[in-house]
Amino acid sequence: MTSDSLAAKVRELASRKGALILAHNYQIAEVQDVADFVGDSLELAKKAAEVRSDLILFCGVRFMAETAKILSPDALVLEPDPNAGCPMANMLNARQLQHLKDLHPDAVVVTYVNSSAEVKALSDVCCTSGNALKVVAGIPADKEIIFVPDKSLGAYVSGMLNRKLIFWDGYCPTHHRITPDAVRQARRDHPNAKVIVHPECTPDVTAVADEVASTAGILRYAISSTAKEFVIGTEIGLLHRLAIENPGKFFYPVTRFADCPNMKLNTLEKLLWSLEDMQYEVTVPANIADKARTALNRMLEYV
Ligand code: 13P
Ligand code: SF4
Repeated sequence: MTSDSLAAKVRELASRKGALILAHNYQIAEVQDVADFVGDSLELAKKAAEVRSDLILFCGVRFMAETAKILSPDALVLEPDPNAGCPMANMLNARQLQHLKDLHPDAVVVTYVNSSAEVKALSDVCCTSGNALKVVAGIPADKEIIFVPDKSLGAYVSGMLNRKLIFWDGYCPTHHRITPDAVRQARRDHPNAKVIVHPECTPDVTAVADEVASTAGILRYAISSTAKEFVIGTEIGLLHRLAIENPGKFFYPVTRFADCPNMKLNTLEKLLWSLEDMQYEVTVPANIADKARTALNRMLEYV
């Protein structure tokens, strides 16, 4: 079956079943094109909190689908491939976070959404790369802050706000493939280009960029910039929307190796099977979901 006819089948089945298809900016082009809404983690969380759909097919990775389920508890949330996890989210478990909290009992816990529901449930407030600066800036200056699990986003926030944070040793393997040497080479190859990178990149990469932003922030920067060429330091799935939304502008990845294998597990075939068989259901135990929802709702005050 061609990808066009598969896409038509997915759309037809989604509308017959009343399913809302949400997709992250890193999904393969065909999945983005078939979705009702494509966005960054913050936009997708906001959408999940607002929608009145009984059925959400979430195309991203597990923590995003869990977030949608927590914020839209009455909806049936499906993920096309149950193996699409996030290695960074798996780098911190609830016991480890509890131990860190025990070491710093007065600290406010700020947790990046790239984390499990259990970890969110132990947190005071969540953040995404789109609002981490605002969330941390909103915490009184005399308060200690634990920032988990991403040490790279944490270092960026700490540097921008000149604020000491207690980190965890978590990171995104995909963004850590983007190196300062590769950025310098890309600048030599494209001397007129603006360099925009994601804050999951290491501090030596964010230090040599022109702009640091979430995936939605990168999209906004590209649209509003008068520059014609851009070097992009994030997962390569974002290049699809960048190209579509900016005709006449040129986008070059810092490296083609910044390809998240988990994000790429979702395919049109799997979306179709998911809607046909109504699987794989995303569930979060109620006691965990209730606590995690409090931390997520606090985050949504900083949109
Ligand atoms: P955004 O929230 O910027 O879309 O990033 C999500 C993510 O997983 C980055 O690796
Ligand atoms: Fe996780 Fe990195 Fe993939 Fe985002 S790009 S889902 S942080 S592994």
